[in-house]
Amino acid sequence: MILVTGGAGYIGSNLALRLLELGHNIVIFDNLSTGHIEIINKLKNLDLKGKIVDFIKGDLKNLQEIESALSKYKFEAIFHFAAFSIVSESAKNPSIYWENNFLGTKNLLDAMKKFNINKIVFSSTAATYGEPNYVPIDENHPQRPINAYGNTKLALEFLMDDYSKAYGIRSARLRYFNVIGADKFQRTGEWHETETHLVPNILKSLNTKGKTFNIFGNTYNTKDGTCVRDYIVMDDLINAHIKALEYLNNGGKTDFFNLGTKEGNSVLEVIQTAEEVTGQKISYEIKEKREGDPAILIADNKKAKEILNWQPEKTLKEGIESAYNWEKANFYK
Ligand SMILES: NC(=O)c1ccc[n+]([C@@H]2O[C@H](COP(=O)([O-])OP(=O)(O)OC[C@H]3O[C@@H](n4cnc5c(N)ncnc54)[C@H](O)[C@@H]3O)[C@@H](O)[C@H]2O)c1
Repeated sequence: MILVTGGAGYIGSNLALRLLELGHNIVIFDNLSTGHIEIINKLKNLDLKGKIVDFIKGDLKNLQEIESALSKYKFEAIFHFAAFSIVSESAKNPSIYWENNFLGTKNLLDAMKKFNINKIVFSSTAATYGEPNYVPIDENHPQRPINAYGNTKLALEFLMDDYSKAYGIRSARLRYFNVIGADKFQRTGEWHETETHLVPNILKSLNTKGKTFNIFGNTYNTKDGTCVRDYIVMDDLINAHIKALEYLNNGGKTDFFNLGTKEGNSVLEVIQTAEEVTGQKISYEIKEKREGDPAILIADNKKAKEILNWQPEKTLKEGIESAYNWEKANFYK
């Protein structure tokens, strides 16, 4: 049995779906603060090899709730997605970020210790690197986050090192770059009430009459002046999680891996690809640069390739296609 925290959210539900396809029985633990019960119900009703044995509406901030969940089943491993992840919100209100992300994860690790669960795959982030000294960014790049969100995730990486050394809880920390895309059959996809990500916001602008998409800055030192990011497609991201579990199952030590493609695409390139995919013109306006947006973020993914035996395969276009199909099926009027 596998526990998925945050399994009602964007990435957690995609991982849950894959586990079910692979024949795993799983329990989802989520407080539905940003996740959606509709997704859980949809996944529950699919006829797949594995089953959602239980959905526990619980909050990681409450130690008793997570302890009670871990006492009910014998879990072999945990995938831990539950967190708050809006950078601007974290800057305005760091208190709730530290409480939710840090305290929540500390409770989870303490409960794992109590119930002898010793493997965790954790959603870390490229935001732990902050403004890069060089690109592509490898795992040895200094970690100096520039916002509270990144700080909480970096602190959790330290916490996981300490719990690994002292209590033998082994972690695979996956530092995602920019995640895009949805399940190819639209069973789950991106659904954030406050959407801050580029691709869904471009697609949403097409569904709102007269809406213009904002580009923040076109004078960066990049190929066309707009920011360059490394877009990793959901299918590839999920493959890496499955490989990370295999790695831990095979006795792999606590470690951390960048998940990205080593390719960079500018905002204008993403818009152009979205135009190809949708067959529609995307109207945009250039706005002022935002504080704290590095010009280029690209992952060096050699470590994940070598140690996890993982290889990203999907293109930006495929990622946008799956996101568009999901968006059309669920949100277009
Ligand atoms: N989406 C990205 O591009 C991206 C990039 C880097 C890292 N990440 C990380 O990946 C993880 C998943 O991101 P997402 O985009 O799927 O977010 P999401 O908001 O869609 O999902 C998070 C889920 O966790 C649940 N949750 C939050 N706090 C909880 C708590 N205290 N107790 C129980 N459940 C709780 C929410 O209800 C939600 O279902 C997060 O940890 C995020 O920091 C995401």
